[in-house]
Amino acid sequence: MPAVSNTTQLAENLWIVDGPAVRWVTVPFPTRMTIVRLADGELLIHSPIELTPDVKKTVKALGTPKYLITPNKIHHLFWSQWQACYPNTLSFAPPGLTRKRPDLSFAGELGDSPEPFWTNEVDQLIFKGSRVLDEVVFFHRPSGTLILGDLLENFDPGTLSSFHRLLARLGRVLAPHGETPLDYRQTFMLRHREARESLRRMLEWKPRSVVMCHGLPVYEDAAAFLEAGFGWISPRHSP
Ligand SMILES: [Fe+2]
Repeated sequence: MPAVSNTTQLAENLWIVDGPAVRWVTVPFPTRMTIVRLADGELLIHSPIELTPDVKKTVKALGTPKYLITPNKIHHLFWSQWQACYPNTLSFAPPGLTRKRPDLSFAGELGDSPEPFWTNEVDQLIFKGSRVLDEVVFFHRPSGTLILGDLLENFDPGTLSSFHRLLARLGRVLAPHGETPLDYRQTFMLRHREARESLRRMLEWKPRSVVMCHGLPVYEDAAAFLEAGFGWISPRHSP
């Protein structure tokens, strides 16, 4: 079992590990990686967090990292630490990251369908429509868990100061009513049709749980959470 307390097993062969917060425009963003153990025992690491000695111990207890992936080009801060520590891993970049981080080496770019390496257990698609940030969305089939980066955020009120709680509420990202952050949804202006098509494909997976890079996971009523979180692209509210 994992060696540190900030690791949570969500389902068989599926864990989240929470790392230290990183600050963005003064707001503390808790960091989180998701680990999938594939059938052959190799680990798929989603959104690698800071590789502290504790995190290394956790990883060692779970298996051998083989694939490094991340949902979008913002989540890249600790990648070089992982490549240096685990030189046998294969890295796959979300859209735009190879240009942003030419210092990193990638085996390929994440696309609108899963790589053969993990297709039996993990599905994926690109959530389209943003002019700024394409996010690759993943789905752990055996547990019915949707794995998101920043498309929905659900900050735990208990971890925030009253000021940051207010900011999170105004930004529509305060649990239990986390939605797409307001600044992110602005980047989809006049492109909601593409976003709706991505959402339709995502909902076809019939997620039973939702884990996000920032905030409380959702284990019950995932369909209702997703409907509310993506309500801003419903035909009722958007062109
Ligand atoms: Fe993020």
